[in-house]
Amino acid sequence: MEIVDADGQVIEPPTDTVYLCRCGHSATKPFCDGSHARCGWTENDR
Ligand code: FES
Repeated sequence: MEIVDADGQVIEPPTDTVYLCRCGHSATKPFCDGSHARCGWTENDR
């Protein structure tokens, strides 16, 4: 799978397995860095 930004530029994943940030607090967007746990975000938050 290829991940591209809004300009169509390919974003190289840092590892073979990545998680995309859904909370908006990650310092490594678009990838999850675990910040969701510190800000209290849950999957029910949208
Ligand atoms: S979902 Fe945003 S840091 Fe994990």
